[in-house]
Amino acid sequence: MRLDKFLSVTKTATRSEAAKAAKQGRITVNGKVAYDCSFHIDENADTVTYCGRTVVYKRFIWIMMNKPSGILSASTDKKAKTVIDLLPPPLNTMGLFPCGRLDKDTVGLIMLTNDGELSHKLLSPKKHAEKLYRFKLARPYDKSKNIENGIMMDGKLTKPAVISMQSETEGQITLTEGKYHQIKRMFEYAGSEVTFLERLSFGGVTLDPSLDRGQWRYLTESEEHTLRNNAE
Ligand code: URA
Repeated sequence: MRLDKFLSVTKTATRSEAAKAAKQGRITVNGKVAYDCSFHIDENADTVTYCGRTVVYKRFIWIMMNKPSGILSASTDKKAKTVIDLLPPPLNTMGLFPCGRLDKDTVGLIMLTNDGELSHKLLSPKKHAEKLYRFKLARPYDKSKNIENGIMMDGKLTKPAVISMQSETEGQITLTEGKYHQIKRMFEYAGSEVTFLERLSFGGVTLDPSLDRGQWRYLTESEEHTLRNNAE
């Protein structure tokens, strides 16, 4: 990775600050002064100091985003805007991807990461982490269908879900799996239609209420720890 990208990714300095500091001889790589920021370093092995302080590199990035409606939960798309397009540089060119999928019109918590292994564990059918959603329905659903006990979907019975209703048409549902359009298909089976869907938590991590739609922040150490525990 380029030295200036490394300093920007680690939130040490902007590219222009890094270029200035390099000219002034205030950056070292493995003990040698680096006067040029276009220089490539091995971020996993080299020791970089900036103004006398060692820069600690974090290999894996975990971000929570409050996904707006109309945005694809994909890394790239030829036509539509994706959740990665909502990140500023250099984060939008660092190979981040969404951990799991939300429909284009679903809003709320989506995690973005470059940690393929943990992401895979969190999404694996064996360890599928809990996901909590808030929903609104077009009309009351038929409770006698017992959708929380499982319905046939793609040739298999869905795993038990927990539904709590706040009114006849609004409630919350907890799932431990993520089949395509799962919640919409469950309520359709019970004679209703989902008109609004928002994910509130994933793997024990809750959507930060201070994030407006389209906003994001890094997970805290403790939130990352919670995700890891949920994948074990
Ligand atoms: N279930 C759905 O139907 N849509 C989503 O986006 C997530 C779960």
